[in-house]
Amino acid sequence: MCGIVGYVGTKNSAEILVDGLRKLEYRGYDSAGIAVFENDEIKVCKAKGRLDDLEEKMSVEGVPQGVCGIGHTRWATHGEPSDINSHPHSSKTLSIVHNGIIENYIELKAKLIKKGYVFESQTDTEVVAKLLDYYYDGKPFETIKKVIGAVKGSYALGIIFKDFPNQLFAVRKDSPLIVGVGENENFIASDIPAILKYTNKYYLIDENEIVILTKDNVSILSLDQEAIEKELFTATWDIEAAEKCGYAHFMLKEIFEQPEAWNKTVSPRITDGFPNLDVDSLTDELLKGVEKIHIVACGTAMHAGMVGKNVIESMVRIPTDVCIASEFRYSNPILSKKDLVIIISQSGETADTLAALRLAKQNGVHTLAVVNVVGSSIAREADSVIYTWAGPEIAVASTKAYMVQLSVMYLFALKLALVKGTLSEDKVREYCGALLDIPQKMSDLLEKCEDIKYFSSRFQNAENLFFIGRGLDYALSLEASLKLKEISYIHSEAYAAGELKHGTISLITDNIPVIAIATQENLYEKTISNIKEVATRGAKVLLIVNEAFEVDESIAKYIFKIPTVDAVLMPVLTIIPLQLFAYYTSVLKGCDVDKPRNLAKSVTVE
Ligand code: M6R
Repeated sequence: MCGIVGYVGTKNSAEILVDGLRKLEYRGYDSAGIAVFENDEIKVCKAKGRLDDLEEKMSVEGVPQGVCGIGHTRWATHGEPSDINSHPHSSKTLSIVHNGIIENYIELKAKLIKKGYVFESQTDTEVVAKLLDYYYDGKPFETIKKVIGAVKGSYALGIIFKDFPNQLFAVRKDSPLIVGVGENENFIASDIPAILKYTNKYYLIDENEIVILTKDNVSILSLDQEAIEKELFTATWDIEAAEKCGYAHFMLKEIFEQPEAWNKTVSPRITDGFPNLDVDSLTDELLKGVEKIHIVACGTAMHAGMVGKNVIESMVRIPTDVCIASEFRYSNPILSKKDLVIIISQSGETADTLAALRLAKQNGVHTLAVVNVVGSSIAREADSVIYTWAGPEIAVASTKAYMVQLSVMYLFALKLALVKGTLSEDKVREYCGALLDIPQKMSDLLEKCEDIKYFSSRFQNAENLFFIGRGLDYALSLEASLKLKEISYIHSEAYAAGELKHGTISLITDNIPVIAIATQENLYEKTISNIKEVATRGAKVLLIVNEAFEVDESIAKYIFKIPTVDAVLMPVLTIIPLQLFAYYTSVLKGCDVDKPRNLAKSVTVE
């Protein structure tokens, strides 16, 4: 999971490449590099660290001058982050950038060493650079074709050949790649934000299509060298969507964008008061026949699925599993033709989630993807797709994508309940009305979250922290805990409140912070008992509670009240202060909020 860009045009390519890489840094940020044609020679500059480190190096060594080049921002898999392991990788005849993993690189490397090639890095990518050189016979298309026939794994490759100045070559399999089309300039990129400043017109490249770009021509060829006619898409995101627009961090901006994201995702899907998913392949007949649902996803998307399970089971009363995609794919899952597999993914390119989707399809089960990135692999391969309209999510920690994933869970559950008759029409209409009211309630709550900063200041020095809750509050705690861990590096665990006393309560000692969530009336008293159990053992408790409940203020050191909505919708509002809690804690600790250590946004490796 790295970011690649390429430019051919009339402008200074180094500047455009670095600018594009900045928009892709969410995909990996442990090293970066560019290769540019300078006087018909390829000049490479690469450095361990952030893009700032690359820029600093270029300011010392000289910025490559030329109108065509490729660039890369890396999340290391094979070989530690270092100058040598950074991309681009080169051989005598060419330079390449690569996003993906070459699975048979050891075997290929051994063969190439026997042929006399010398390797300088520990990467799988350098093998592709040397293999391209080995097959190169002055014909780039044929050479690329031979190489993709020999490598196994995933790749989006940007290639420049010394003999073909001012031409860009690219190919992909299982890693994303778009071609941006401008005036007298063309681009390749892993994602749209990298090109948005220059053009909003783009092609989606399919598996093993070979792309050849000059400044005024785009050729997309099949392996038989036939020209492929493709639809030219127009990105609907504006440039601001991929900029911070005055916010200190993308994460904060994205938290504040949640009302709008919800509105964009939900309002077009409610017609005359009823849910209207508007997906032709998801017919009422198909939905009527569904007997079991499997929700499969990773990380935050999986947590959205946990809420979805609760909602679907309570509204529709059909069994719903939530599976971690990396477990599902190797668990020989029991699937039947009357099941529905719901795949949730922001990026639509998470390797384990994509593999789970393919497995479900092989088993003949209908697959429904809930995806944010239009045209991503998961969106293209699923039988049905419901897009979430969150716009680009840049911060590694997912917030607005989670929110819109929740919104689709509610819409889907309501549609299913309507089709199966498990909720009355009046009840469905009432819920739909409540869904439409949510953005205003979110905006009001966001304005009242000043206290959260204070709570963060009280908890920022904790080494361990627990979140507890029951039912929907437990599902929500999982996400609150993940947010805190990933960006503030505080170890935290989410526990079903009633389960604590079966072991984990031994970790509760003086001043251990516990964030207790209590928004569900039927579980309130039970959760209060669990809060008493931890408070008696010295825990410092922050209670996040439904404002409708009468609270004995002595129960917790700190209390934050959430505006009341229907019980089933409470997670939507409750997650907001918890996202902000993670955010402010990370800021106070001086962590890199948008680019937490060891992480990248799209996990395209197993
Ligand atoms: O793109 P996806 O939704 O498939 O990504 C799945 C997880 O990697 C992702 O949700 C991750 O857990 C979040 N970035 C955490 O905030």
